[in-house]
Amino acid sequence: MKTRLLSIVLLCCVSLVKAQPIELQVNVKETVAPIQPTMYGIFFEDINFGADGGLYAELVKNRSFEFDYPLLGWEPFGQIEILTENPCFDKNPHYVQLVKTEQNRTGTGLVNEGFFGMGFKKGENYRFSVYARNLSEKPVKMAVDLIGNDRELTAYSSIEINSKEWKQYEIVLSPNRTDEKGRLRVLLLDNGIVDLDHISLFPEKTWKGRKNGLRNDLAQALADLNPGVFRFPGGCIVEGTTLENRYNWKNSVGPVENRPININRWNYSQAIRRFPDYYQSYGMGFYELFLLSEDIGAEPLPVVSCGLACQFENPYADPQAMVPIKQLDSYIQDALDLIEFANGDTTTQWGKLRAEMGHPAPFNMKYLGVGNEQWGEIYVERLAEFLKVLRKEHPEIKIIGSSGPFKDGEYFDYLWPEMKRLQVDLVDEHYYNPPSFFYDNAKRYDSYDRQGPKVFAGEYAAHHHTRKNNFDSALSEAAFMTGLERNADVVYMATYAPLFAHIEGWQWKPDLIWFDNMKSVKTPNYYVQQLYGQNAGTHTLKLTHNGQPLTGEQKMYATAAFDQETNEVILKIVNASINNRSIKVNMEGGNPSGEVKITMLQSDMLEAENTLTSPETIIPEERTITIQGNTPEFHVPKQSFQVFRIKLQ
Ligand code: AHR
Repeated sequence: MKTRLLSIVLLCCVSLVKAQPIELQVNVKETVAPIQPTMYGIFFEDINFGADGGLYAELVKNRSFEFDYPLLGWEPFGQIEILTENPCFDKNPHYVQLVKTEQNRTGTGLVNEGFFGMGFKKGENYRFSVYARNLSEKPVKMAVDLIGNDRELTAYSSIEINSKEWKQYEIVLSPNRTDEKGRLRVLLLDNGIVDLDHISLFPEKTWKGRKNGLRNDLAQALADLNPGVFRFPGGCIVEGTTLENRYNWKNSVGPVENRPININRWNYSQAIRRFPDYYQSYGMGFYELFLLSEDIGAEPLPVVSCGLACQFENPYADPQAMVPIKQLDSYIQDALDLIEFANGDTTTQWGKLRAEMGHPAPFNMKYLGVGNEQWGEIYVERLAEFLKVLRKEHPEIKIIGSSGPFKDGEYFDYLWPEMKRLQVDLVDEHYYNPPSFFYDNAKRYDSYDRQGPKVFAGEYAAHHHTRKNNFDSALSEAAFMTGLERNADVVYMATYAPLFAHIEGWQWKPDLIWFDNMKSVKTPNYYVQQLYGQNAGTHTLKLTHNGQPLTGEQKMYATAAFDQETNEVILKIVNASINNRSIKVNMEGGNPSGEVKITMLQSDMLEAENTLTSPETIIPEERTITIQGNTPEFHVPKQSFQVFRIKLQ
């Protein structure tokens, strides 16, 4: 009994003794290395219905009747036929013919189911358009209806199809209620024969109000990350499962109606999450992606096929899945033409097309990725061919090579020295690993060669065993990223992956932003990226604890940056432990003005996550405090990531 009492007394005494702060030295006198403006970026791939059904605001699925089964997504009634004679668009030749006769009582028409339904908001405008021709003697009236979840009519209008030649018709509809799973119906009201193609429906409120535009909330979420670089269009879809279905950027530019569609390789490649209706309309193609980069202030970083189809999906060196070296010319030409499309004078073939599409000024592209997750000699040989030409024709473009799909191992160990030998500018690394990897690897880049190519952490995410975007995964990424920043002299870019996922249409998780047809939710991982992106700073500062960087000792992580534009020291501190702590910051050579802005992401529950129904479980909290002297002490709650912006005098 006595011993028990004694230990209780001892315990109480211990908890009354204030824990010593963790002392950090920050050298404000001199900066260590510039932090590249490209450091924290985003990576977009059309996976998880990220483009069609996601960021691309088109509501109609299979609008051109070009899916392998041309009526997929459509519910036809009456007399309907799919035809290709005298098409409206040569590269998308299928169209639908509707016939209505006196005998036809139910009428003739089509209902489109959208992507998991169509999201309609009460009172907002939706722009319907269609290419049509009338093969009958008299004009034919066609009803255009928006239908709600329960098949109620929520908006209706009609158009009169009066031309014997293909012609575009447009009307605006405004639903009288909100529906998450609405539909679009077209229905002939008069007897006659009518051909329809490219049936389209967009909200008027798109990102920047553009026609053929992007979904506003999703594009805004990207802008709010303040990304420095924008890598697109993949990922595996760059490579294709076969060479035929690789991403051919040339099919994604020019008039939107005539961009030939492509099957999405995520349609069938995840056996437990197959989506036979997943195609790429390319409505949000390279032009739109360059435009988005410009809008959000990020350097565009397109990736092109290196002539190898997905190496995971094909046996190594399968002749079917690789272009012979001697026949790589057209692939290399695609890369040259892409540079011309982005940067070329408007008198050049591809520069002219860019101007015709609405952007005479160059996009000022500076980076190009060649290949995605490639490996082995077959990659190195092909990349060498690209480099021979690109270095000569475009020495100004920085080329990104691959280190394969994994963070280490055989492929990685072979490729890094090869990338150095080929003198690529940056090497793309990918790692999807458990949170423990991220907590344990804040030092990953401390020992990287400073003389070789720079690092682009082009795809990474902490994969918790639940595969959820929970706080544990986010905190581990925040801890790891202190190491990216501390090594800003060798790490030039980092992009989380994947970016988007439709709640009903995902193939891969975790993902940065989840959405349904009406709303979206930012994950804790998103807020980690945002806190880094919005508080990048311009230069790193030396930060030590007992003479060493703080990279996990007592589960604490720290990095320091200086922002030349705002004259602030920016500290990023992760406390991954279950103990509340404090830090004492000795700012050598810097005099704080007294004002400190603190932004914190914290949760007592590592399993906590944000969902569409409770999107604000974990969100950054901001406060401003006043300090005195140049050795301020800050509270560091357990399981927290904090950014301190310390204004200097
Ligand atoms: O981000 C999802 C996939 O992961 C990418 O397409 C690919 O590059 C990687 O394997």
